[in-house]
Amino acid sequence: MTKRTHRPTDPVPALPRQPPHDCTLCPRLAAFRAEQQADFPDWFNAPVPSFGPADARLLIAGLAPGLKGANRTGRPFTGDYAGDLLYKTLLDHGLATGTYAARPDDGLELIGCRITNAVRCLPPQNKPVGAEITACRPFLLSEIETLPNLRAILALGRIAHESVVRTFGERPSRFAFGHCTQHAIGGITLIDSYHCSRYNTQTGRLTEAMFGQVFKDLAPILAA
Ligand code: URA
Repeated sequence: MTKRTHRPTDPVPALPRQPPHDCTLCPRLAAFRAEQQADFPDWFNAPVPSFGPADARLLIAGLAPGLKGANRTGRPFTGDYAGDLLYKTLLDHGLATGTYAARPDDGLELIGCRITNAVRCLPPQNKPVGAEITACRPFLLSEIETLPNLRAILALGRIAHESVVRTFGERPSRFAFGHCTQHAIGGITLIDSYHCSRYNTQTGRLTEAMFGQVFKDLAPILAA
């Protein structure tokens, strides 16, 4: 995709394409999911759908569900450390309302933003391989194409950044990943952040202030 195909004047926006609950596009991830289903039958254990309204101006692209987070609860970033920081920051910047209680039924609502993942299924060790990122990209592309008001995408981490760049038919070598770096691509702004993982915050790679700065930079873009 070099340009977004959906026009805001189109009367009925299409719904984003979703992977089926028992998606088998990635054999390794399907096998890993079967292990989790056996070990934790009460968990969600399926491709995690995106969260947020269809009129979102901002799409946040994470990496993949965490084992005890989104894979357990069924909502992106819900129930793990990365979600604690992400949802707090969204609430602080007026992009969410309600209370985040790490449960999909906590009533939290996103305002003008939507959260998805580059890979919808839980990968072993939180590390999807290239073929899995490629296999899941049509679902990311569908998200991007079916958000009529989209102005910006926030990529959390290099893998999400590169997958977003590829959805626009571009080569990642032309768009260097960098914290707070903005890229003009396909008629919108792609902005990068280090992933809000526990590892990145505990090692000091990403501070709360650095993460907040990304949203300060996004504000004028989303208001335009
Ligand atoms: N949870 C998600 O849904 N995505 C991530 O990238 C990390 C945690």
